[in-house]
Amino acid sequence: MSKILVLDHPLVKHKIAIMRNKATGTKEFKSVAKEIAMLMCYEATRELAVEDVDVETPITTAHCQMLAGKKLAIVPILRAGLGMVDGMLELIPSAKIGHIGLYRDEETLEPVEYFCKMPTDISERDVFVVDPMLATGGSAVDAIKLIKARGAKNIKFLCLIAAPEGVKKLSEAHPDVDIFCAALDDHLNENGYIVPGLGDAGDRIFGTK
Ligand code: PRP
Ligand code: URA
Repeated sequence: MSKILVLDHPLVKHKIAIMRNKATGTKEFKSVAKEIAMLMCYEATRELAVEDVDVETPITTAHCQMLAGKKLAIVPILRAGLGMVDGMLELIPSAKIGHIGLYRDEETLEPVEYFCKMPTDISERDVFVVDPMLATGGSAVDAIKLIKARGAKNIKFLCLIAAPEGVKKLSEAHPDVDIFCAALDDHLNENGYIVPGLGDAGDRIFGTK
């Protein structure tokens, strides 16, 4: 079964409150999304393998550890997932980026795919799928299906706000995928929006609508 980790940190709580506030404008919304993504990346990379290295300091030899060179990929679900990429890259700058374009049909709430471009060696990479919102879970489930179809095995899903409905659907469809979120909300409303949520993440990041 998927592990779900809700980041329990004062900085994350503070920043999520800013994002929820309808008075927060596009510029601040975008920069806070980036900051939270960076904090989430710190937590989601906790299990990366390290190897022993000796480093010469100005004083002597220090026995240190560095990342064992595992290849990483970040895959944003377009559009809103793009708002989390730069924050992740601050901490894992050599990660390759794949893109999956999905939008929710406003009537059926079913995801519709319009783009998919992955690094050619995606099957060898640990993959972080990012999208600010896990609502019904349809988009995340389909995106991860597309990534698995290209051979990737070690996948984590990172979102800012999750609904219980989405967590259930994603963990049932992909029990091997751990879910990291900054907040676990109450429920979905009749239009498939997360309550209390933060509204439409894509529109708030890109200033559309
Ligand atoms: C939003 C969000 C997720 C999806 C979540 O994207 O960024 O991708 O909805 O909903 P689900 O869990 O019910 O599938 P949207 O379809 O609005 O597209 P956008 O990012 O282009 O605005
Ligand atoms: N997509 C969003 O952007 N917000 C929601 O609350 C649900 C889906």
